Amino acid sequence: MWFTRQLTVRTGRTTIPLLMLLFLGCFCTQSHGQYVDDPSAIVNVTYTYENYVLSGSMMLKSFPDNMNAYIYYQTYDGVWNLTGTTITAHWQWENADVTYGNWSFSGAVSPYGISKFYVYLQLVESGATYIDDNNGQYYFVNNGAPRSTKNCTGYNVVHTSVANGVTNLNLTLNGNGCALYSPDVKYLTVSITPYTAEVVRIKIADTGNTRWQLPADVVAEGTPSSETIKTKSYTVSYTNSPFTFKVARPSGEVLFDTSVSGLPSLIFEEEYLEISSVLPDNANIYGLGDMADSFRRPPDTTLQTLWNLDQGTTRKNNAYGSHPVYYELRDGLVHGVFLRNSNGMDIALVAGQITYRVIGGVLDFYFFLGSTPAAAVEQYTSIIGKPAFVPRWTLGFHQCRYGGTWVSTQGIKATVDSLQQAGLYLDTVWADINYMNAYEDFTLGSNFSDWNAYVATLHQEHLYHVPIVDPGIAITNGYGPYQDGLSSDVFLKWPNGSLFFGQVWPGVTVWADWFHPQAGNWWTNEIEKFHQIDSFDGLWIDMNEASNFVTPPGYEPAYQINNDGAWGVTGINTRTLSTNLTHYSGVTEYNVHNLFGHYEAIHTHNALSALNPGNRTFVLSRSTFAGSGHVAQKWNGDNAATWDDLYLSIPQVMSNQLFGIPMVGSDICGFNGETTEELCNRWAQLGAFYPFSRHHHSTGMNDSFFFLWESVTESALNAYTIRYTLLPYLYGLMQQASSTGNAVFRPLWYDNPSDTTTYGIDTQFTLGNGILVTPVLTEGATSVTGYFPDGVWYDWYTRGVESTSPGYRTLDANLTHVNVHIKGGVILPAQYPAKTTYSTTQNPYFLIAALDSNGMSSGGLYVDDGVSVNPAYTQLTFALSGSTLTIRVSQNFFYIGPKLNSVQVLGFNSPSAPSTIYLNGRPLKGAKATLSQQVLNITGLSISLNSNNVLQWK
Ligand code: NOJ
Repeated sequence: MWFTRQLTVRTGRTTIPLLMLLFLGCFCTQSHGQYVDDPSAIVNVTYTYENYVLSGSMMLKSFPDNMNAYIYYQTYDGVWNLTGTTITAHWQWENADVTYGNWSFSGAVSPYGISKFYVYLQLVESGATYIDDNNGQYYFVNNGAPRSTKNCTGYNVVHTSVANGVTNLNLTLNGNGCALYSPDVKYLTVSITPYTAEVVRIKIADTGNTRWQLPADVVAEGTPSSETIKTKSYTVSYTNSPFTFKVARPSGEVLFDTSVSGLPSLIFEEEYLEISSVLPDNANIYGLGDMADSFRRPPDTTLQTLWNLDQGTTRKNNAYGSHPVYYELRDGLVHGVFLRNSNGMDIALVAGQITYRVIGGVLDFYFFLGSTPAAAVEQYTSIIGKPAFVPRWTLGFHQCRYGGTWVSTQGIKATVDSLQQAGLYLDTVWADINYMNAYEDFTLGSNFSDWNAYVATLHQEHLYHVPIVDPGIAITNGYGPYQDGLSSDVFLKWPNGSLFFGQVWPGVTVWADWFHPQAGNWWTNEIEKFHQIDSFDGLWIDMNEASNFVTPPGYEPAYQINNDGAWGVTGINTRTLSTNLTHYSGVTEYNVHNLFGHYEAIHTHNALSALNPGNRTFVLSRSTFAGSGHVAQKWNGDNAATWDDLYLSIPQVMSNQLFGIPMVGSDICGFNGETTEELCNRWAQLGAFYPFSRHHHSTGMNDSFFFLWESVTESALNAYTIRYTLLPYLYGLMQQASSTGNAVFRPLWYDNPSDTTTYGIDTQFTLGNGILVTPVLTEGATSVTGYFPDGVWYDWYTRGVESTSPGYRTLDANLTHVNVHIKGGVILPAQYPAKTTYSTTQNPYFLIAALDSNGMSSGGLYVDDGVSVNPAYTQLTFALSGSTLTIRVSQNFFYIGPKLNSVQVLGFNSPSAPSTIYLNGRPLKGAKATLSQQVLNITGLSISLNSNNVLQWK
């Protein structure tokens, strides 16, 4: 909603009225030239531009309160225009008023150069943001365009062959090439391989086959169907001179088209690949990560850099993981494009096009045609690997803490005791690096000598424990993991064979070369030995981008990706391993940097599988790559205790569903910085619905445990009561995700792809298709406006009807209330909640059957032992129609102990409660039906869920 408002900004002696546009909801974007501002707020701008760095100075008129000045730039590098914001010249300026101040600025703006820029001021007052755009006055940079692409004339097809359904094309460079950043590769081979009726792989590689390509045992590549594909949902066509290709739907709708007017058709140099495709204007693009951004990526101004970086939730920056995949929603149909490449890259969305700029490897594209959202995710995960099935206990609440009181067994125990005394839910107790001796992996510090005894008591209470393990191994004489690693020769080396040293928590460290054939054994051994002194149930692998506290020397290619761009572009060796390092197989770190955390996760998963054969593993990784979800789970790293980061967690968790990592969450209440009671309160309400739900807080900060505030305790109790009640439902969603890839935490368009209103919504989400959550994300709010898609929606608490047609509704949201709604047509399996997942699973079941407008609903229940890899399981389906609930056991391998005790029917449209309940045709003694406000409660049941049953009421 847009408001026009008259703002008076005090500038000393004069009072200047400013008409400003204010975007409420406050994910404010600037939009220059739309308002009258102070024409003399910015004067005397001088600037120079050299080596991608824009420097200069200006006089700014001081405003009271918090004011930031930003440089807003537009680049033109001979290929495209890209706009963005960078360089904060000044912030949190709390000068009284009146005077002009001289402010200098300097920063790298964009690897694409810069053609013009302007300065704008941002004033934050009472939580609202006002922008003064200096009348949109541009400053032009003459030497800003770094290159010319006029000689980039692409490749020609010189030979074509088709064998076993695979089309192979031989290409040669057209002309002399353009060698923009490195020599052109002369000969290329294109293979077009239909995988299934919906998936096609198009790979452009060097004919000599000497370039880095991803091994299938590190990043899966899927397998083409062995059956003949009869009707494909795609057509692939190409042009010969220059070579370009198109992927279209049979309807003719072109989804990917590399012939983009004015752009090179294909650049394939030794260290620089560039290819673009046409996109519709205002395209609906999702995915591409890691990134803290809106869920729908801004189609005109997105620059997604993929280079794993230890970098918290900074909007528009590359972060911990790399997921070179996007999904596009067009006319209600979804398709996706995956570039299977681990090299550093920039992916830019600008009006009407997407461009990939990659610094190595080959162009190995997969196109998956959907066309439903679920089908698209299903297809993507059939290439990269299905998500791992998580142990059921991991769906409980996790408590973590870095530093603070968590530096001894007693300190951690005190928190656990307080949580329990407050009646709060808890399943898993974490341990951050403070448990270690001198921050060395696989050791226990002196304050933790009684740790394992404590873990044993946790286990007796059916609680679980996950400690952190970092990849940096301390170089300490006599330290086992280091000595063992030396003996097996598994540490990363410089090209001359000497060990590579860097620095992390324990001081100077080395890192494993995960490609080394002994690395897995070494890691498994260390983990097995560690388990003898700390009986953990899962592992937390952190700092695996890999993060290094020092920047080593290393190779920097001529094309500089936008690494850490939000803070000013920096080289790719920044705070990580040197790109020069040579792995066992001969591949350089330059090519496999983005795989470090992913490969570590594979080895950790293998180690845990070896430790507990037949059991599922839990490996929480910060860094991930395409396919990590097959072996690991994820959290979004170091967020901050801010309202913006509260919001951003929703798009982050949602994007990971598209990456095949459904089990994901963000640190609840915020990791960095001090949280507030209100923020922590709202975060408890939202975090209770993250698939991975963990409270965590950084060292040096005050405690922020739920029990410290009454209101937060109450909110957490309310919200986690819902979570634990829905444990059977959530577990079923996780099971489904692991077999199909289906998203658990969904954007509203997932189940409503034709409803264009949902396309931009990322402040609400659904769990499966049955639960809609509308959290409060704004400070001070006591109500929240949310969208209700088509269908009947019932309020969780009153069980009454909230909405029967699509539209926005404003809902009460007092401090301890989180809005949760149930979709008509869905039967939710539920259990009476207890304070742990274990005790919840011992309690009786009940069903919440929410009727749709036809008086019907359906659902299912999946039950197994909660831990086994290939469990014996029981699967039930429920169908309610009229006054009959049919319970069918479709698979029956696991005995379900707890009985079905009650059934609630929502939207029960009848003047009076039925008088008799029948089970399989016979009146059921003890069963009772009551009706209140269209909610029929059938209680007094005790139905075994191990056989078919029909429940009726008359
Ligand atoms: C960085 C991680 O992101 C954070 O969660 C952890 O607490 C610290 N490392 C200390 O281990």
